[in-house]
Amino acid sequence: MIVTIDGPAGAGKSSVAKKLASQLSFFFLDTGAMYRSVALAGLRRDWDFHDQATVGRSTQALKYQYQDAIVLLDGGDVSQEIRDPEVSRNIHHVADNPFVRDILVQWQRQWAVGKDLVTEGRDQGTVVFPNAECKIFLTATDAERARRRWLELKDAGQAFQLEQVLHDQTERDRRDRERKVGALRQASDAVEIISDGMSCEEVVAQLTQMVNAVRQSPAADGSKQRSGFDEQ
Ligand code: C5P
Repeated sequence: MIVTIDGPAGAGKSSVAKKLASQLSFFFLDTGAMYRSVALAGLRRDWDFHDQATVGRSTQALKYQYQDAIVLLDGGDVSQEIRDPEVSRNIHHVADNPFVRDILVQWQRQWAVGKDLVTEGRDQGTVVFPNAECKIFLTATDAERARRRWLELKDAGQAFQLEQVLHDQTERDRRDRERKVGALRQASDAVEIISDGMSCEEVVAQLTQMVNAVRQSPAADGSKQRSGFDEQ
């Protein structure tokens, strides 16, 4: 069974998806970490991001590993470094690149084969797994999302102005929604959850109920085949 969680930056998707996966004993896939790793590799190696085909080939050649939400690039753990605001600011160079998206989408589908999975990102329910059995669009108001991200950065010892975090978030949302391939949007069959005023545990409890209801429904007999990807 595949559960997709899409939504804008700072909606709490990662924490919710990770806890939900653990609750259900499903695998967890953080697709944002993949785009972040590619952006980090590009920054480290000074890629010319405007040369999209070459960036695609370099992405294909990366030594990338993902296990239990730990991200290894060239054998080193970059799980923290990929969260750096400098990486966030440059991520559009790789997320807008159709060659990179193609490689990562294939990788995500291959990784999912034979797994029960909770996967989170921007395009999981629309492009990568359009036939997923359970789709969620998790969001929160702009101010609430920025406040959460600012707290997260503060806890990680990074002092930023809240206004700066909000500004960066607005810019990233705009780019994510306007991108030509894999844009952020709610799948027509996704359930929207606005998490303002809800704790992570409350969201997870609601989602667990939803997933269990789908699992127990007669339609959850495999009739929703994972084929016929509606690429866009
Ligand atoms: O979710 P997270 O904030 O880590 O994602 C970082 C960026 O990666 C997003 O702003 C988006 O530009 C890109 N991304 C994407 N498609 C995904 C996941 C992330 O384009 N499935």
